[in-house]
Amino acid sequence: MNATVLKSTAQAMVASGKGILAADESSGTIQKRFDKIGLKSNPDTNLAYRKILFTAPDAQNYLSGVILFDETIKQSINGISVAEYLSKKGILSGIKVDKGAVDLPDFPGEKITEGLDGLKERLKEYAQLGAKFAKWRAVITIGQNIPTDACIDSNAEAMAKYASACQEQDIVPIVEPEVLMDADNTIEICKEVTTKTLKAFFAKLVEHKVLLEGIILKPNMVISGKKCEAQASSKEVARQTVGTFLEVVPKEVCGIVFLSGGQTPDQATENLAQINMISGAPWQLSYSFGRALQDEALNVWAGKDENIEAAQKTFLERVKKVSDARSQHPAF
Ligand code: G3H
Repeated sequence: MNATVLKSTAQAMVASGKGILAADESSGTIQKRFDKIGLKSNPDTNLAYRKILFTAPDAQNYLSGVILFDETIKQSINGISVAEYLSKKGILSGIKVDKGAVDLPDFPGEKITEGLDGLKERLKEYAQLGAKFAKWRAVITIGQNIPTDACIDSNAEAMAKYASACQEQDIVPIVEPEVLMDADNTIEICKEVTTKTLKAFFAKLVEHKVLLEGIILKPNMVISGKKCEAQASSKEVARQTVGTFLEVVPKEVCGIVFLSGGQTPDQATENLAQINMISGAPWQLSYSFGRALQDEALNVWAGKDENIEAAQKTFLERVKKVSDARSQHPAF
């Protein structure tokens, strides 16, 4: 493990004004996204779409990195590999290495993320293909009597093993414990579950001797569940989110990049701006949005060549707004 390489990659991932595009939808997930525009997903249509995002002029001004799916990192743009294309643009390539979340046996409603089998070999291959960082997503669901300690602890254990395996290959692990935002819970419950989850995950990361300066945390914002009647304001989301992280995230962690988790692009952007307006956080507070960066551009494209330019313009407008949100400074 080369600590200098890991730290410098992690710092580049949260460079000033920049964040990460999550474009690592698995085959099932990208089909779900394409369903909205009536398009069949296959390696060609997937690449045609992703190329729109990756080749958008000036995207490198707002993107430090892109998370790729296994299929994409093995594809090419303009005759060179996708990772090489992005690298020439000054954008780092990352790779989703988990194999998805499956039902946790005997724990109804809960999930465990798979993918540790053969991980070391896959990481070596991805490093050769140009990946500088990786992503592993754990899913924590809020519901009646869940999450259980068993679910949190088993996901934390798997996450720590993944992070340690990545660092062994000088690949920065994105640690993504996602507390889902879909239920009817209040923001206070989200805070409680997020706090408990992060505490358990960091305990395991430390136990497995993961270098905290060489990871990037990708959490949910602390927010009211989508089905909760009382929706907390952006200012409250920011207060609860930063408050939670100050309590449980070690200051050594290089940076925090939020997922959007199904918020609208405007909501995710406004919440990120308010989060950055609170002072006292020792980490960079940036973004690694999937849907909040892509949804508008995908709709404009609608699978038609004649809309490519307009889709790129829409994508760039959104990513610039999100970059501006991340560059807000505390109002003293
Ligand atoms: O794992 C989730 C993605 O990396 C982020 O996607 O911003 O649409 O939640 P999202």
